[in-house]
Amino acid sequence: MRVLTGIQPSGDLHIGNYFGSIKHMVEAQEKSETFMFIANYHAMTTVNEGERLSKLTMQCATDFLALGIDPQKSTFWVQSDVKEVLELYWILSSFTPMGLLERAHGYKDKVAKGIAANHSLFSYPVLMAADILLFGSEVVPVGKDQIQHVEIARDIAIKFNNQYGDILTIPEFRVQEEVATVLGIDGQKMSKSYKNVVNIFADEKSQLKTIKKIVTENAPLEEPKEHETCNVYNMAKLFLEGNNLKALQDRYKRGGEGHGHFKIYLAEVMWEYFREYREKREYFEAHQDEVREILNIGAAKAKKAAMPSIEKIREATGIRY
Ligand code: ADP
Ligand code: TRP
Repeated sequence: MRVLTGIQPSGDLHIGNYFGSIKHMVEAQEKSETFMFIANYHAMTTVNEGERLSKLTMQCATDFLALGIDPQKSTFWVQSDVKEVLELYWILSSFTPMGLLERAHGYKDKVAKGIAANHSLFSYPVLMAADILLFGSEVVPVGKDQIQHVEIARDIAIKFNNQYGDILTIPEFRVQEEVATVLGIDGQKMSKSYKNVVNIFADEKSQLKTIKKIVTENAPLEEPKEHETCNVYNMAKLFLEGNNLKALQDRYKRGGEGHGHFKIYLAEVMWEYFREYREKREYFEAHQDEVREILNIGAAKAKKAAMPSIEKIREATGIRY
């Protein structure tokens, strides 16, 4: 089964990104043929400073390699290194009714937030369809907000196939249902845009500072405390299992400790959990040439995988004459 997903290079990763998405991508490498790319063309809809976009792209590659994306197991590349995607984007535009794009929530939401309604924002789903269809993807794991974009890719593929025959694979989306939404330090959904995140790779001191800001109820030290409703516990349980989780529950029930103690424990547990990843990240940060080399090899692999379908598409559409 061919699984493909794109990642926008949008800055520091938080633990919601990790438990909601990255961990599953890493696990998927063991079971399926996985294609993962950094969607730097898509990021241009929001990032318009050249130096910043190129830095974010390298940061994204470094972080994902550190967190376990394995270039031996997955095809891992930067979107702009396989230009055929732009060719397909144009070809698919002729099979994209305006109404389909006008109905896209992603576009409507961004415009409602005051982002200028330019053409790239509008045609974003067509480029995403090209990403998906160029590689004959069967399954596309996405967050809930991206489901409609995969449905648009399906609609475009069906229209194309109606015209030219059975050329494009019709993709399906997959949402990681069993993943509960990770909550932020204020108890709302953790999200960069809500400024309530706990970053994966912050330094120890600032990480502790963030964790200390987690909102908790006021309760006297000696009293037993509820763990289920506690924001600190809910974060800690992402990192704990079995006896360790049980031991933390007992500490809540026993009383005699305040939320401050649980916060310090959470910081320690999280610091340990990401230790190995942090060390890998330090290595890749110090060896950016190696990261570039991995991306070059990934781009060559991705291009090779794209060639049969783009050749068929050129042939069918008469672009090859
Ligand atoms: P943000 O909301 O911080 O901008 P993104 O939209 O960039 O995060 O999310 C990237 C991926 O991380 C999404 O596909 C989503 O599945 C996952 N994700 C983000 N926030 C959470 C969260 N709070 N809980 C679970 N998964 C999340
Ligand atoms: N739009 C996706 C997001 O913001 C990123 C993306 C671009 C993507 N192309 C894709 C995801 C193709 C899956 C498949 O998260």
